[in-house]
Amino acid sequence: MDIKILMICLGNICRSPMAEGIMKAKIKEQKLKWQVDSAGTSSWHAGDKPDKRAIAISKANGVDISDQRSRAFTPADFSEYNVIFVMDESNQRDIVEMALTERQGKRVKLLLEYAEMDMKSVPDPFYGEEKGFQATFDLLNEACEKALLKLKAEYAD
Ligand code: 4NP
Repeated sequence: MDIKILMICLGNICRSPMAEGIMKAKIKEQKLKWQVDSAGTSSWHAGDKPDKRAIAISKANGVDISDQRSRAFTPADFSEYNVIFVMDESNQRDIVEMALTERQGKRVKLLLEYAEMDMKSVPDPFYGEEKGFQATFDLLNEACEKALLKLKAEYAD
């Protein structure tokens, strides 16, 4: 089954664009036809490119996210995506609140929890220094690797 994954954070300019780029790269490597997009719980940066630091660190790690543009999550996304990965618990509350059915709410998962990592939330690098973006990239890279393995098992034909 080809699945559609949506990555969510607050501004959709730092964490979720990096998560989208990393997951897309892994999906391409594995020759899967799955789709990945990202969105924010806010529309503060709608239409903007990812943060310059997120673009630079991703590029340095071989992932080009410069074509992405920020957009806000809408309830219509619940019908469009099989899995909605949120970066932190505040995102989780905001998105689950918009779910109309229990089934929609269950599609919302904390990425790090699903990937069985030691942390629950991806810390927001936005207010910190550039080196925080490398730590975010490394965390997301490990989480996406583990999440993809689990998704492949879960959605195997
Ligand atoms: P993100 O980071 O949720 O990882 O994209 C942020 C980006 C922008 C803001 C906050 C967090 N902001 O306050 O504008």
